[in-house]
Amino acid sequence: MVVPESQGKMYHPPLELHRDAHVPDFSSYLVMYKRSLENPEAFWKEVADEFFWKKPATSPMLQYNFDVTKGNIFVKCMEGAKTNICYNVLDRHVREGNLGEKVAYYWEGNLPEHHTTITYGQLLSHSCRCANVLKQMGVKKGDRVSIYLPMIPELVYTVLACARIGAVHSVVFAGFSSESLCERIMDAKSSVLVTADGVYRGDKLINLKEISDEALEKCVEKGASSVARCLVIKHQALRTKTGASCNRLQTPWDSERDVWWDEAMSDSSEECEPEWLDAEDPLFILYTSGSTGKPKGVVHTVAGYLLYTFLTFKYVFDYQHHDVYWCTADIGWITGHSYIIYGPLANGATSVLFEGIPVHPHVGRFWEIIERYKVTKFYTAPTAIRLLMKYGQEPLQKYDLSSLRILGTVGEPINPEAWQWFYEVVGQSMCPVVDTFWQTETGGHVLTPLPAATPLKPGSATFPFFGVEPTILNEHGEEVEGEAEGYLVFRKPWPGIMRTVYENHERFENTYFKKFPGFYVTGDGGRRDKDGYFWITGRIDDMLNVSGHLLSTAEVEAALTLHPAVSEAAVVSRPHTVKGESLYCFVSLKDCKEFDKKMADELKRLVREKIGPIATPDFIQNAPALPKTRSGKIMRRILRQIARNEKDLGDLSTLADPKVVEVLFSQRSEATA
Ligand code: PRX
Repeated sequence: MVVPESQGKMYHPPLELHRDAHVPDFSSYLVMYKRSLENPEAFWKEVADEFFWKKPATSPMLQYNFDVTKGNIFVKCMEGAKTNICYNVLDRHVREGNLGEKVAYYWEGNLPEHHTTITYGQLLSHSCRCANVLKQMGVKKGDRVSIYLPMIPELVYTVLACARIGAVHSVVFAGFSSESLCERIMDAKSSVLVTADGVYRGDKLINLKEISDEALEKCVEKGASSVARCLVIKHQALRTKTGASCNRLQTPWDSERDVWWDEAMSDSSEECEPEWLDAEDPLFILYTSGSTGKPKGVVHTVAGYLLYTFLTFKYVFDYQHHDVYWCTADIGWITGHSYIIYGPLANGATSVLFEGIPVHPHVGRFWEIIERYKVTKFYTAPTAIRLLMKYGQEPLQKYDLSSLRILGTVGEPINPEAWQWFYEVVGQSMCPVVDTFWQTETGGHVLTPLPAATPLKPGSATFPFFGVEPTILNEHGEEVEGEAEGYLVFRKPWPGIMRTVYENHERFENTYFKKFPGFYVTGDGGRRDKDGYFWITGRIDDMLNVSGHLLSTAEVEAALTLHPAVSEAAVVSRPHTVKGESLYCFVSLKDCKEFDKKMADELKRLVREKIGPIATPDFIQNAPALPKTRSGKIMRRILRQIARNEKDLGDLSTLADPKVVEVLFSQRSEATA
């Protein structure tokens, strides 16, 4: 890595940021980075000293094997230590830091008139009460609790309650279908489901309890009903909304299984002794799409995840105690786990917790919230930026955004146009944009600028975070030096990396460590430029990134082929101006079946039902046949080009029947959007 010079357009940190920054300049970053690699023991020990340990570690800070040829893959951080993450992110601040009165969250609902403030003291007492409710329901250390909730404070209470009693939380994004929820409950074998009666997403009322009941029925049908109790939150904001919409919600009820949150919480004690867990006990499972179609239960553990989310939050957003930080992600994804709950709370930060969507009830909603809470650090996704860019500058000009200091993006590559708009229009060319590359699996940021230290190049996630050692490999698994492009991999672990796939360690090893022994394989392509900057070039497996959400083509294909008329389906990505990528589906129908708009709509509905609205296909095209090699493998490269209408297809000699391509091009215009 070299100290970057101004080759091409670089954006340097504003001077006033250097003054109080934790990492004030690039040479400090280099010194700290070097130390984190050369002496990880001392580096991470210092971080661990910030926290409370019931019992100190008896082993080195990090132990690992990353080489499948030498035995099982494992990563351990602070083995032997005992702690509790809920204690560290709440009690420690309230008892030792005197932060009981400090605001932990400004909650802002789907509508601007619904908002509330939660202090650290309140967060602690609600989380303890919820922990006692869960205990009453029979939840013990190591049991799994599935959580299917909108972005309401009770979601945070429940997550922290699980962490407090050592239960493993498995949050399922509340936009997922009943089928997806069922699959995740069954895989985790959760004994409790926590959900809500319903939620408004924009104008749309979603009956979450009905979806939850469907999911639980499906679990029973599949012979795997582990859920004994269902805790249901009455979403107050729904109730305070006057008029018919409120009454529209019928909450189905099973009196043996279901319990209202309010009733259970009302006589629950605020005192709950934390369960002192081993450093390597599991903290949570979070499902992420797998290229075979079946989601993977990514497992994170207590101590390493605490250290890593704490430190990345502190340095990447240059956290200062007066900050008001806002991450617009949903807690159903890893970004919400790490950078709405654990990272900010571990630092004692004040965050905005937002339930709504960027364009409801008006397109200036984000800017209104920034003005209302005087947000200083703002973290969002490129897809949201591209959406808001479409409305121009006018909606922003109505609001005072002068509180902003640092901007951040996550989830997908950011195109230079969106970067410029974010930087110039939202940040008034005064706020660095931290483009953070990471994954559900990495637990926290792994490639990222540090705001006061790193000169920025739009679209580059720049350099590794402390303790992270990336490299680029070629097809043969050889490391390539200097300017290079290939597979982005990591040579050694950092504390927050995932430990296993839930109850499937073999899948963990096969997915991330088999291809190139000795390295963690991200599944992303990477490029290093002449200044040592890293650029993500996109997925190199059969995954798609729609609005920052990873989907596997196999998962969508499996949903499409459930339709009785479909014999085969192939799904590819097509660029989309807002979502980044969209789904373009080719379907072959069984004999005598007609393809028309009705059929296409049915197929789209089917995918929504099976996976959820995020997976809704944008295009469905009839494919009398699919382009295949002589050995029967679908050539997705060709389908991608057809979807994009790129006529220059190159070498087609490996195709069994090249005429198929012509037919698909000729029927392209009939694809149903
Ligand atoms: O392809 C990369 C893309 O999102 C993937 C991880 O998705 P997920 O596990 O859902 O976590 C998303 C939030 C951390 C990566 O493999 N990705 C994430 N951040 C970036 C990105 N691609 C380019 N630039 C980023 N900053």
